[in-house]
Amino acid sequence: MTTAAPLAPFIAHTADHATVHIDLGERSYPIRIGAGLLGETSTYQGLPKARSALIVTNTTVAPLYLQQVRTALAAQYAQVHVVELPDGEAHKDWQTLNLIFDGLLQQGCDRKTLLFALGGGVIGDMTGFAAASYMRGVPFVQLPTTLLSQVDSSVGGKTAINHPLGKNMIGAFYQPQLVLCDLASLDTLPVRELSAGLAEVIKYGPIADMAFFDWLEANIDLLRSGDRQAMAQAVKRSVEIKAWVVSQDEKEAGLRAVLNFGHTFGHAIEAGMGYGVWLHGEGVGAGMVMAAHLSQELGLVDAAFVARLTRLIERAGLPTKGAMLDAKDNAGAYLEHMRVDKKAEAGEIRFVLIDGPGKAVMRSAPDALVRQVIDRCCG
Ligand code: NAD
Ligand code: GLY
Repeated sequence: MTTAAPLAPFIAHTADHATVHIDLGERSYPIRIGAGLLGETSTYQGLPKARSALIVTNTTVAPLYLQQVRTALAAQYAQVHVVELPDGEAHKDWQTLNLIFDGLLQQGCDRKTLLFALGGGVIGDMTGFAAASYMRGVPFVQLPTTLLSQVDSSVGGKTAINHPLGKNMIGAFYQPQLVLCDLASLDTLPVRELSAGLAEVIKYGPIADMAFFDWLEANIDLLRSGDRQAMAQAVKRSVEIKAWVVSQDEKEAGLRAVLNFGHTFGHAIEAGMGYGVWLHGEGVGAGMVMAAHLSQELGLVDAAFVARLTRLIERAGLPTKGAMLDAKDNAGAYLEHMRVDKKAEAGEIRFVLIDGPGKAVMRSAPDALVRQVIDRCCG
């Protein structure tokens, strides 16, 4: 982990285009934010030269955005292939990942072929993992089309698939060449998915930036209505914070774990309910409330902060109560899932907690206390 300049203060603005740079030495890349980027030929200029490109997308996103991306890429690549995957978190698995390798091999794609991940976080994570492993690594570009994937999953190079026993357990760190956040693509996003994305936006406040949290409180209704300018600001600030964290700790030796605020409880809900029953962002929403309560129990924040965070999560249209995973021993079921979390060390669960608003800390906690919080926050 390196010492970086402090995060620049949040300044509300009205620009609807922006570029944020993620500083990772030779793996640095730009994250471009704006409306209409997907279909612009100029967007893709400057990418590595290659004979072929392969777009990975899914059955929901393809009818909406594939044509424009394919046309824009055809100006640059002699061959533009497509692999269309089934939609959903339940398909973020080996079997579906293999369809990408099938497509790459059937089309004779070589080591220079660029992969383009067109879709939400599921497509981005799977395409990134395929790019990391096909011929031991080919370049790839993130074209995130959900709010969640624009503000979080497309940035920072985490790629993975799920295992029935644990979320995102098989994967690699592998950075894209470019990330394009086309704000216009958010216009077709179902409201439930928009709310799920807001969970990852909200998390940046308590862990790093309470001025942004204040702004979110004032603008949450505008964001839920899909207001383009408000969205541009939320995406830009989220990406700035993520880029700042990842630039200091690309492979999660320490600091980067703060980005998992709410995720330890949330992943337990996702895995415990069966992938796809709760959306990832919904698990994170309820998980942040649970982590805030645990922070309060450990004397790190007061009840007023927990209430404030819970209220914003509720206003974002997200659940503030955890799911019941087991009627007989619900807390036990959570603990079992949380022990296979990637942050766990020798079976000890490590939680991302809030150590005063705007600052996160990694801590373990006694099982009895965690059980109390789960009992209070579920159902
Ligand atoms: P998702 O990829 O399942 O997309 C949500 C739904 O929206 C899907 O049905 C998708 O087909 C549809 N969709 C996508 N774009 C659309 C559009 N523009 N209009 C209409 N529908 C559209 O889910 P997600 O919330 O984008 O991502 C969640 C995934 O991201 C999880 O698997 C999670 O583990 C992962 N994730 C990864 C990281 C990381 O750092 N790599 C970070 C956070 C989350
Ligand atoms: N979403 C958590 C991370 O990128 O580290």
